[in-house]
Amino acid sequence: MGKTVQLEPSPKNHIETLMKVGYSMNMAIGDVVDNSVAAEAKNLWIYSPPSEEPFISITDDGHGMTENELQENMRIGCKNPNDTREKTDLGRFGSGMKTASFSVARKLIVISKKKGHKICCCIYDIDLIIEKDQWLIEKLSEEEIKNIPELDKVFESGHGTQLIWKNIPRYKSNIEEINESALAEDITSMKKYLSIYFHRFMEGRDKVNFFINNEVLQATDPFLTQENGYTEGQSDSQYSPNGKIDIQVHILPHHSKLSIEKIDALGGIDEIAKKQGFYIYRGKRLIVEGGWLGLAKSSQLGKLARIQVDVPTTMDDLLSTDVKKSSFQLPPKIRHLFKRMISSPIEGSKRKYNYRGSQEEANDFWDINDNKREERITYEINATNKQFSDLVNKLKKENRKYLISYLKKLSEHLPINHIFSSMSSKPKNVKQEEIDWAEFERMLREETWK
Ligand SMILES: Nc1ncnc2c1ncn2[C@@H]1O[C@H](COP(=O)(O)OP(=O)(O)OP(=O)(O)O)[C@@H](O)[C@H]1O
Ligand SMILES: [Mg+2]
Repeated sequence: MGKTVQLEPSPKNHIETLMKVGYSMNMAIGDVVDNSVAAEAKNLWIYSPPSEEPFISITDDGHGMTENELQENMRIGCKNPNDTREKTDLGRFGSGMKTASFSVARKLIVISKKKGHKICCCIYDIDLIIEKDQWLIEKLSEEEIKNIPELDKVFESGHGTQLIWKNIPRYKSNIEEINESALAEDITSMKKYLSIYFHRFMEGRDKVNFFINNEVLQATDPFLTQENGYTEGQSDSQYSPNGKIDIQVHILPHHSKLSIEKIDALGGIDEIAKKQGFYIYRGKRLIVEGGWLGLAKSSQLGKLARIQVDVPTTMDDLLSTDVKKSSFQLPPKIRHLFKRMISSPIEGSKRKYNYRGSQEEANDFWDINDNKREERITYEINATNKQFSDLVNKLKKENRKYLISYLKKLSEHLPINHIFSSMSSKPKNVKQEEIDWAEFERMLREETWK
């Protein structure tokens, strides 16, 4: 073997890379929340008031850390990803708290208190690391901690951990209104994200209360299991020495059965359709929200189909997740199981759509002609309608062709794309029964047609 040389990464270059590992704001918050859940928090408070210098504070009342533990946990790669962890520990890489924070803020303040221990605080300041080209953290004394303006009240009596993200580049445009609206948008998006990605922690006996700017978050069940019209599909389990994967198929109710609030909570009808597919949970925490993982194509008729997959954290070696916990690698053995589960929910979803289609066929004025063999669907005026025959009979034979020609054009010009888009995005606004016929009535009265 040749001579070995130790090559330390350059801290100032390394940190610039870590800031760009690809976390979205929501993913970053999710990684921090993972730590609070793992610390058995009962309450989690996210606080970010509008301000000239916006900051984001995330506090939990979990078991907290001692000064030594905190200092060690500030190290990037503080834990071995191959270590066996508690089942409820959502961590794996020993880096989330740092990498998630660096991708949002240039300053990370972590304050923590464990029961029976004194409060402690460590700070990463990216500008200091770049200036000194060293992995430096700043440690504060108890007195100095008390002077942190954003310090949370939770430490007055109990235990827990607070992260403060300061000096946030995304809120640093020269125009104050842009910064304010960017923060407001992030908060709205964060609420939706957390209420779906952590929905299984927000309910039940051991639930965690989530607060964002003092508003309590409600869980959003992506399968709408409590709504009218929901159908539970088949279930299956796959056993391995490290644990078992549970699979449960869900067919959502058709959107005509849902309230506007429910549709909104799921991001609108288009979003519901886009998010058909697999919902993969790692230790009850959602990692993959929809998509068929290359095993099936998204389709209009499959949009009500969702497959819940529960993978325990003990199976990370088989279904490895990435540092941001935003994807899964599917090994061939598991792909096979997933593929087997797909056909039934897609069929179930199709049935709900076809059923509605046949309901609408029972209409005296329009025929819906669905020719499956030739893969052609046409909407046609019903020529055998009684009112229509009476009208045709009233016309002179030589004039009938004009009416037919007009009706042909009417059918050919049916604004199908617009109807589809409106029914997909705002079905409750489509009110055909409320057409204003005043113009027709006026023309009739004034004998415009002679
Ligand atoms: N809110 C918290 N309460 C108590 N301990 C915490 C908290 N946040 C982090 N820690 C401790 O700090 C350690 C490092 O956290 P970090 O998120 O960087 O890595 P991880 O959770 O171990 O793994 P991953 O990179 O997969 O998130 C955790 O393992 C945990 O022991
Ligand atoms: Mg973590």
